[in-house]
Amino acid sequence: MSKNDDHFFNMFSIVLGLLIAIAIGIFIFARSVGVPFENNRAQTDSMVEAHVAERLAPVGQVAVAGKDNSALAVSAKSAEPTAAMAALPIPANGEATYKAVCSACHGAGIAGAPKMGDHAAWAVRIAQGKNTLYEHALKGFQGKAGVMPMKGGRSDLPDALIKETVDYLVKSSQ
Ligand code: HEC
Repeated sequence: MSKNDDHFFNMFSIVLGLLIAIAIGIFIFARSVGVPFENNRAQTDSMVEAHVAERLAPVGQVAVAGKDNSALAVSAKSAEPTAAMAALPIPANGEATYKAVCSACHGAGIAGAPKMGDHAAWAVRIAQGKNTLYEHALKGFQGKAGVMPMKGGRSDLPDALIKETVDYLVKSSQ
């Protein structure tokens, strides 16, 4: 090996060693900054704490006779009605009821429902007499074509309004 090669090799080793030393220094510095911060966060952040508590919580709870089981009580909050469960408005008359409730099926003749305005389909039904139609609309009816749900699914509507709606449906389909 020539003297020049020696010199190059020494310089190369020194530079390499320096770079490694710097890299280790940066790593130690980053750890010294980051680790206490992370530990601190894990101990003080309430969200982290809540998540840990959630993961550690038992899957189920057992009510033991004679012990205080009040923590297992279903809260009244969850039973409170929400806006989505609030009562639907009651339509003003037969026509409005038809549009709001019955047209879902009778409008286009869905699921076997006789279509509003279809004279042939309604003629056979009207022939049964109004009282039968009222009864089938009020109490529900399983026919050959399909299922007519009780009051069209709105059991909260008054009988008189359903009869008025049947009248409207019949009048428009005669
Ligand atoms: C979920 C769909 C659906 C809704 C909503 C619905 N109907 Fe019906 N209705 C039917 C079906 C299906 C039939 C036919 C049943 C059969 O004859 O097999 C029917 C039949 C009828 C009949 C004829 C019964 C008979 O004896 O031939 C009347 C009257 C009637 N519906 C009134 C109403 C009124 C009034 C409403 C709204 C308050 C309403 N329906 C809402 C599906 C529906």
